[in-house]
Amino acid sequence: MPYAMHIPRAGGPDVFERVTVTKPEPGPGQLLMRVAAVGVNFIETYQRAGIYAVDYPFVPGVEAAGIIEEIGDGVTDFVAGGRITTTEGAGSYAEYMVVDADKALPVPDGISDEVAAALPAQGITAHYLVNSSYNVQPGDTVLTYAGAGGVGLLLTQMLKHRGATVITTTSTSEKAELARKAGADHVLTYPEVPERVRELTGGRGVDVVYDGVGKDAFDGSVASLRIRGTLVLFGGASGQVPPLDLQRLNAHGSLTVTRPKIDDFLLDAEERRWRARELFDLVVRGSVKVDIGARFHLEQAGEAHAALESRATTGKVILVP
Ligand SMILES: NC(=O)c1ccc[n+]([C@@H]2O[C@H](COP(=O)([O-])OP(=O)(O)OC[C@H]3O[C@@H](n4cnc5c(N)ncnc54)[C@H](OP(=O)(O)O)[C@@H]3O)[C@@H](O)[C@H]2O)c1
Repeated sequence: MPYAMHIPRAGGPDVFERVTVTKPEPGPGQLLMRVAAVGVNFIETYQRAGIYAVDYPFVPGVEAAGIIEEIGDGVTDFVAGGRITTTEGAGSYAEYMVVDADKALPVPDGISDEVAAALPAQGITAHYLVNSSYNVQPGDTVLTYAGAGGVGLLLTQMLKHRGATVITTTSTSEKAELARKAGADHVLTYPEVPERVRELTGGRGVDVVYDGVGKDAFDGSVASLRIRGTLVLFGGASGQVPPLDLQRLNAHGSLTVTRPKIDDFLLDAEERRWRARELFDLVVRGSVKVDIGARFHLEQAGEAHAALESRATTGKVILVP
């Protein structure tokens, strides 16, 4: 019998339980995928801990890649045996998962199952950040944080591909080295923001800040921007930012702030195909490298969460059944 990793109630990383399940069946418009690798995302730690509301018991995970085993009625554009990935699934911490066919992305040759599982959530996030939350232009100077993290490594590579200057932060020298290898021009420690950012930009400030750290970084983000700069707050690895007095945006130079989430940048099939095509092309051509920093067995989902929460990981964390 196949199994899935359940979260029976809100709790720490040790709350996970391995539960035997019946093999799911695809309904109309759906595919049954045998999971080859699962992408772990920060949001699942919030759901497990009870910070984001979910109904327990709960099988977490939106991201996985694998092989199509069965096809539901009405699906014409996939065949059994084909390789797919998704970042819009439900319950991917499992050996089998049902995926809506319109949210499945065919995996091109040249991309392994593990990379296919590691890429879509963080890669599509980096794609919409540089294209849509703010459209990065050659010559822009950008501040990001967690430059050795999953989103961070991909974001830096995409920013360099667009011709931007990248300033980022890391918490250790080993992580700084990884961020530099990904192309970051300047790697700072967190306390150096915003003063060093001002120095590096000749006092002007950066054009855009991509802030996935949230609570601890937000004030430095505001203080690092140029007049009419843009702050893209896309996460809260250190906690959520408290309510913002809009007058601060006026005082710091007519700033723009946006708080995006990935779902709003995958609105229809056309948008999904565009982002996936550009992302996969960058990887197949070698312009963007995917760094899988940690692999855990699916049954070790709790250890994967503990590693992510304790800041011990670099790049992407995956689970392999
Ligand atoms: N809005 C969206 O659409 C979207 C989509 C995907 C991800 N996200 C968000 O993007 C952020 C990055 O996600 P990721 O999966 O790529 O994670 P990650 O960057 O691989 O891991 C988080 C990193 O944040 C840094 N960090 C700074 N302060 C921290 C703290 N107090 N506790 C833990 N980590 C801290 C750590 O790097 P250092 O040790 O180098 O500081 C840590 O490695 C998360 O906030 C996530 O929720 C948002």
